[in-house]
Amino acid sequence: MTFPDAPVGIFDSGVGGLSVLRHIQAQLPHEHLLYLADTGFAPYGDKPEHIVVERVLAIGDFLLAQGAKALVVACNTATVAAVRELRERHPGMPIVGVEPGLKPAASLTRSGKVGVLATERTLRGAKFLQLRDQIHRDSGAEFLLQPCVGLADQIEFGELDSTATSAMLKRFIMPLLTEGADTLVLGCTHYPLVRASIERLLKDAGRPDVALVDTGDAVARQLARLLAGASQLRAQSTIPASLTGYTSASATALTAAFRNLLGIDPPVHEVALPLPAGWPPAPAS
Ligand code: DGL
Repeated sequence: MTFPDAPVGIFDSGVGGLSVLRHIQAQLPHEHLLYLADTGFAPYGDKPEHIVVERVLAIGDFLLAQGAKALVVACNTATVAAVRELRERHPGMPIVGVEPGLKPAASLTRSGKVGVLATERTLRGAKFLQLRDQIHRDSGAEFLLQPCVGLADQIEFGELDSTATSAMLKRFIMPLLTEGADTLVLGCTHYPLVRASIERLLKDAGRPDVALVDTGDAVARQLARLLAGASQLRAQSTIPASLTGYTSASATALTAAFRNLLGIDPPVHEVALPLPAGWPPAPAS
């Protein structure tokens, strides 16, 4: 049985997934979409893997309960930690994850050195390290891993262009350029939201040639492929495509993010999701 009119459920630890949502809206304009920002539990990047897994499974259950026909894990950290478990829990369902674009970066680099900007959790995940090793073997490209502690938080706070965010970007990116990177992977879905600041930094550093790799477009294409393969693509209709936002924090904050980052005003609902067992950890005595 197929349900083309059912929505696609998209989620992230916060507003980062909006950098993926905009590609999905552009490529699949007829799909009904649900977007869940797990802002009340962000960031994922500094939490233990099993805690992220449990939370992701709870979000998947929530989105399925809203009728989702497919899921997009619009978060590198959640994909590395939990996409396998999510697929095991929902066999047969189209599920698309986001992985840092190491492969496209390996084919773009001329110096053979690629900087990877991502959360600590992504860069330590077994799935990511396997990908890195395999692409290094296949292409010879060297990957310089840079955990960007605190950057996703800055973006969550709407600090896209502040002095503190620019200083942070400089601290993370300049050493990669010094080591010879000519290509930077934006390995967290929050980071394309500060792409303009990164480009300005590269220009000021006299390195406007450095390529930036963001996989939002590829994720939307993969979603389109999976929906078509499962006969789940929604056709154009007199009923326009809708978008509904959900957040585990304040509706006002997500409404403002939709407006400021995408210039749209969808309805937003606050949701309570179950906390993973053992979270938050008891304070050390
Ligand atoms: N947007 C998320 C990602 O792509 C991570 C942010 C976080 O640490 O929660 O990795």
